[in-house]
Amino acid sequence: MKASNTKTAIQVPMLDLSRQYAGLREQFLAAVARVCDSQKYILGEEVTSFEREFATLCGSTEAVGCASGTDALWLGLVAAGVKPGDTVITTPFSFFATASSIIRAGARPVFADIDPETLNIDPVKVEQGLRSGSPHRHAIMPVHLYGQCADMDALTRIATEFKLAVVEDAAQASGATWNRRPAGSLGAAAAFSFYPTKNLSAFGDAGALTTSDAKVAEHARSLRNHGAKQRYYHDEIGANSRLDSIQATVLRVKIPHLGEWNDARRSRASAYDKMFAAAGLTKVGAEAPSPVTRLKTLPQAHHLYHQYVIRVQKRDQLRDFLKERGVGTEVYYPVPLHLQKCFSYLGYGQGDLPEAEQAALDVLALPIFPELEEFEQRHVVESIAEFFS
Ligand SMILES: Cc1ncc(COP(=O)(O)O)c(C=O)c1O
Repeated sequence: MKASNTKTAIQVPMLDLSRQYAGLREQFLAAVARVCDSQKYILGEEVTSFEREFATLCGSTEAVGCASGTDALWLGLVAAGVKPGDTVITTPFSFFATASSIIRAGARPVFADIDPETLNIDPVKVEQGLRSGSPHRHAIMPVHLYGQCADMDALTRIATEFKLAVVEDAAQASGATWNRRPAGSLGAAAAFSFYPTKNLSAFGDAGALTTSDAKVAEHARSLRNHGAKQRYYHDEIGANSRLDSIQATVLRVKIPHLGEWNDARRSRASAYDKMFAAAGLTKVGAEAPSPVTRLKTLPQAHHLYHQYVIRVQKRDQLRDFLKERGVGTEVYYPVPLHLQKCFSYLGYGQGDLPEAEQAALDVLALPIFPELEEFEQRHVVESIAEFFS
C-alpha cells in the first residue's frame, strides 16, 4: 500500500450535475417559464402530466407526486394498510428513511440481514425471521439498493405465503427492472426519490409513489394533502406533501432521457469492471482474495448503477488517498440502520446483523454518472491500483 503525498491535476467529482444541466438548459428554462407564466405552483396540470408519464415508465396505472422519497415511503406504507402495532420487515443496509418511514407509520421495523454479494435484503433471512417471528406482521419493504432490484421472485413468493404487502423502496431505482418488469410495479406500492443526486432528479426535493391499486392511489392522494379528499374536509390527519409544479416540469424534461442516461451508467459500470480486471484488482475465481470485490448483478436484474460500489479493505485509508488524487467517493452507508442511535429502543446490538455490519466497514461508492468520461474512470482505477501496489 502506497502512502500518498502527491497532489493531482485531475479532479473526478463523485457527481457533476452541471454536465447534464448544460445539455438541457434551454429546455429547463422554457419549462420553468411555462409554470411561472401559468402562476400555478402546487399540483395542477404539470403534476398530473408528470404522474401519468412516470406511471407509464414504472409500468403502474397510477403515480402520486409528493414532496420527497421519504414522504413517498410513508404514503406507500399507510396507503397499503400498515397500521400502528404492525411490523414491517426491511433491510438494515439502506438510507435512514427506509426505517424511519415505518416508525412514522406507527409500525416497528424488523431487520433481516443482507446478501453479501448484492447487499440487498436476503430472502433466506426474511423467511427465517418470519418462521420464528411475531404474528403482527403486515409488510416487507425491500430496497432496490444502488439501482439493482432486490430478489423479487423470492420476496414475492414469501409475501404471498405469509400474506404480506410488498412496498418497494425504489428511491434509487427509477427505470430499473426485474425480469423485465419495472421497479414500481412489483408490489402493492413503491416509493421513488427525485433528490438532486438521484438518477432521475428534480431541482430540489421531490418524490412519487406508484401503484396499480386505485384505492391505494386515492388514499395516498388524500394523505399527501392533509387527509382531505375535498378541501377543508379532513377524513384523517395526513401531511402537506404535495409536489410543486416546477419540480414536476423539470422531471418531465428529464423523463424522455432517462433510458439513455441509465444505459450510459451501465456502460460506465461495465468499463469500471473491465478496467479493474485489466489492472489485476478483481481476480475472478482467484484463490487469494483480490483487493477489490465487485458486487454481483443478478441475471433477472436490469441494474442501472445509481451507484457503482466496490468492497475493499482499508476503505477509509483508500478514501483519503483518492481524495488526494482528486477522486470523490462516498460511503453508502457507514452505520447500518439497526445500530443507529435513535433506533436503540428496538433492541438490536452489534453482531446481530453481521453482513450489514461488515458492508458498512468496506463499501466504497466511486464516481458514476452518465457524462463521466473514460479518462476520468481510468484515473479512478489507476489511483486505486497505485494505493494497493
Ligand atoms: C434508499 C432510499 N430510501 C429513501 C430515500 C429518501 O428519499 P428523499 O431524500 O427524497 O427523501 C433515499 C434518498 O436519499 C434513499 O436512497
